[in-house]
Amino acid sequence: MWNYLGVEIRHQLVDEANRIGAEEGRTNLHYEFCNAMLWLGRLVKEIPDGILQAVTIQFPDPWFKKRHAKRRMVNEEMVETIASHLTPNGRVFVQTDIESLGEEMFELFRNDARFTEIAIDANPFPVKTERERAVEDKGLPVYRAMFVQSARFIA
Ligand SMILES: C[S@@+](CC[C@H](N)C(=O)[O-])C[C@H]1O[C@@H](n2cnc3c(N)ncnc32)[C@H](O)[C@@H]1O
Repeated sequence: MWNYLGVEIRHQLVDEANRIGAEEGRTNLHYEFCNAMLWLGRLVKEIPDGILQAVTIQFPDPWFKKRHAKRRMVNEEMVETIASHLTPNGRVFVQTDIESLGEEMFELFRNDARFTEIAIDANPFPVKTERERAVEDKGLPVYRAMFVQSARFIA
């Protein structure tokens, strides 16, 4: 069975998500308060080696203005954190409805030799996020990419 860890920066959403998970009796799901841009490394360090098999990054806030670009969640540091904790053949799934943000995030993974892109034409996971449903209901496009970590780069 898979275990799922969700990270969210708004306390209220973390509490609500954990409450819903508990009400539904989901014992393999937990949400943690975390500023993923700054503290993801600290959080994943707590995860025992060899069990982080997949990371999903779904519809992060776009921070459109140039002067806010530094607030965008996916940066080189995040890619490094993910690469150094993901298992061999572990996967990273990224999706957004903002084309330019997608290209920026995808390039960060494409530029890292530890990752290889796998072609996908849909979300391979069985559950859609709220944002994904809202975007698709409006008939708008979603930009997606999947990357696999090459086993040969893992020490
Ligand atoms: C556009 S919503 C998408 C929510 C959900 N992933 C979905 O697809 O429906 C972006 C979410 O990311 C959270 N968020 C923004 N910055 C964050 C950060 N630095 N670390 C963790 N979560 C963050 C926001 O509070 C918000 O819940």
